[in-house]
Parts: sequence; structure tokens; C-alpha cells
Amino acid sequence: MLFNPENYTIEKKTFDGLTVTYRAFTDIPYVTKPINPDYQKLAIYVPESYYHGQSINSYTLETAPIFMPNGVGGYMPSEIEEPGYARFAKPGTINSLFWALHHGYVVVSPAIRGRTQKNEEGLFTGKAPACLVDYKAAVRYLHANANLIPGDTNKIITNGTSAGGALSSLMATTIDHPNYQTYLDEIGAADSTDMIFAASCYCPITNLDHADMAYEWQFNSLPRYSRQKMVMTDGGRPSFSAEDGDLTEAQLLLSQQLKALFPIYLNSLHLKDSNDKVLLLDKEGKGSFVDYLGKLLLTSAQKANVDVATVPWLDESGKLDIEGFVADITRMKTPPAFDDIFGQSPENDLFGDQNMPCKHFTTFSYEHSIGKVELADTTVVKLLNPMNYIDDEKAGTAQHIRIRHGQRDRDTSLAISAILATKLRQSGIDVDYQSPWGVEHAGDYDLEELFTWIDSICK
Ligand code: DHB
Repeated sequence: MLFNPENYTIEKKTFDGLTVTYRAFTDIPYVTKPINPDYQKLAIYVPESYYHGQSINSYTLETAPIFMPNGVGGYMPSEIEEPGYARFAKPGTINSLFWALHHGYVVVSPAIRGRTQKNEEGLFTGKAPACLVDYKAAVRYLHANANLIPGDTNKIITNGTSAGGALSSLMATTIDHPNYQTYLDEIGAADSTDMIFAASCYCPITNLDHADMAYEWQFNSLPRYSRQKMVMTDGGRPSFSAEDGDLTEAQLLLSQQLKALFPIYLNSLHLKDSNDKVLLLDKEGKGSFVDYLGKLLLTSAQKANVDVATVPWLDESGKLDIEGFVADITRMKTPPAFDDIFGQSPENDLFGDQNMPCKHFTTFSYEHSIGKVELADTTVVKLLNPMNYIDDEKAGTAQHIRIRHGQRDRDTSLAISAILATKLRQSGIDVDYQSPWGVEHAGDYDLEELFTWIDSICK
């Protein structure tokens, strides 16, 4: 699996009046025993001027950070991406790959297996933890070829949104952990390291085994839901149709039960804020953890120059009225938000196995299951939750993590990213965490700021 620096084309793309000329090394297999060869390959893009002795933003062919976004959405398969239009954003939006090249980064785009894929025998090939294992294998390929790969392999920065944000957070917290080794061996990943320097995570759909209780803790007061029902096509593109309604009596009961579980979980984490203040919740779900979120949202409002006096659910001291907050942003999902009692959610599909499309991944939903849906292997569920590895000495961690979770995001509770950020900070990692005002479930909307952050940690 030697990288061939001579095997490239020169490409030129112009967007917004800016032209980027780059070398494209494409369709490079990153494992020797691929299960799905079309999805276990990567592309490397390098500013052409680096091959003519020039520098960009004081980076060179040797020193440029390696920006490594994944294109995963909905835990679906992701193909190699090219500099061009963004897949999941407003039509016409230019993707991070183009802007990263323009900024002087080397860009690596891995294709990654996803939950819906099957082989010729009809067996599923992309169930958990395939998406993470592929991302790791792609990084291992870069390290195994460190001397040949353009850019600085000690400065790999992953980036992703939603399910892809979750993967980025896992890349940052599970480095070289032995639990993933058999999966990596199985596909013939390089015998190197999956070390990354930093991770950027937009609205990570993570901590899936506690996301249902967090969701009901936040949204319990809302008996109505409204959503754009997303159907993922096989090309990984979403299509939408509007749907809304009232929670049933049974769902209202599930919401109560799940809400009651969240304080027990939150308190078990022994979280502290940056001033060492303990973050707790009482039985009603109130307490210092709410104050922590209030401060986060106050900082967000201030950064956006929003007059807090105009926000009915937040005051200038950061006191947060959760019921008012969620009435404003509204509920998207029905309880349980992730581990569906019918076993029909994207996450149920993620935790299937090669024979079985969908499984439960929480004992709660398993016990409340309608029908004959099995419970996933707990060791597999564990592999996809970064919270399990932050304190594990066998896992390396990235040095820097940036998490953005929009203030209007309803796909998962704000508590999920807050817990992750707090836990990471407590373990000594440099964390940059914000909840940008007015932002819904989205990513890559502040690339200039992201690149400023990357430059600040790399230089
Ligand atoms: C994504 C969004 C979700 O609401 C979810 O449950 C899983 C994944 C996504 O956009 O990737």
C-alpha cells in the first residue's frame, strides 16, 4: 500500500471568482483486504503551487496541515468527495474541501462504508463499527506513508457533521485503542497508528445510548413534534417531506420515563465546569447543569449581538428556562428519539449486524420493544460512544477538539454535546465548544473561524 506520488491529475476549479489549482491523487485503496473496495479508498488533494516552491498562509508541501473531512450523514455510506458544491447544505454552497485547499491545507477525503450496504451474498457490510473503522484505516494509511504523503501527518484534523461529527469525535477519543484492532486487521489496515492531531465536530449525533433520555429531559414539555422526514437515498443524498403531530399517550409516558433517567446518568458523570463547579441535576431535572447550558447560550447570544432582553427564556445572568427554550426551537423527534421501540430508526439500522438490519441498543427500548427486535452486542454499542474512551488510558486522544452545536438544533439534545465537551475538558484536552445562535442542525457554516482555529493550534 505504498503511496505513489507520481499518480495524479492536475485539476482546476473556480468558485466565487476564486480559482484553486491542485493535484488530485484519487481512488487510492486504504486497506489491503477491502470488504467494499468502492468505499474503502481515499483521495488526496494538494495545492499545485506547493510543487513550485510556493507557500500559502506560510504553509509548504511539508508543513501544511492535513484537513480530513468525512462526508458521512445519517450513518450512511459516504463516497470520496471533491472540491465543489457541498452535499448537505443550501444549493450553491461551496464545500470545505475547496476552501481548505484555497487556505493552503492538504485535503484527504476518505470514502466510508455505511449502514445500508450489502455484499453479493446479501449480507450487510457497513454496520457499526464499520464507519469508524474505515476512518481509522484511512488515517493509518496516511501514517504508514508519512514520508511520501504531502503535508504534515502529525497535523491531521478530522471534520464532520452530525453522524460525521460523531465520527470525528470518536477519531479524537479512541486513538489506537485495542478494541478496534480485530476490525482493522480484518480489512487489512496498515500497521501504523490512527493518531490525529485535532478534531472538528459539528452537531455530533453521539452518545447514542444516552441520547433518548437527554432528548426527553430537554423536550419533555412539548407534546407536539414537527419534522422534515428525511429519507436517505443510496447516493447518500437526503430527501425530505413535512410531517407533524401530537405525541400519543404511550409516547408521553415514554417521555416521562426517559426524562427521569437522565439526571441519574448526568450525575454519574461527575462533570465540572471550567471553574470546577460540579454540574448536577435533581429529580425534576433542574440544577447546575441547566445553569451551565444557560451560560453557554448567553455567551452565544452575546457573540451574535442578540439583546438578551428580547429572549423570553434567557436572562442577562444566564438563567435558562428550558421549557421556554424548547417551545421556541420546537420538538423534532418522538420518544424514544433514537432507539425506536419499533426498531426503525437510522440508529437501529446502524447497530444491526450482517444478517439483521436493525437492533436495539438500549435496555430501555429493548424492554419497551414492539415486535421482535434484538438487542445489539453491548461491546459494539460501546465502540461507537466517545464517552467510554475519554478516561481509558489505552486510548490516545487528539490534543485539540472543536465542537459546534447550533442553538436551534433539535436533532439531538444540547446536553449531548455539552456533556462531551465538559468531559473532554476535564480530562485535560483543549476544547473549543460553542452553541452558535440561531443555527440549526448543520455544519461547515463558519469555515473561516474553523480555519483560524486550525491555524492557531498548528502554528
Ligand atoms: C443525522 C441526523 C439525525 O437526526 C440522526 O438521528 C442521525 C444522523 C445526520 O444528519 O447525520
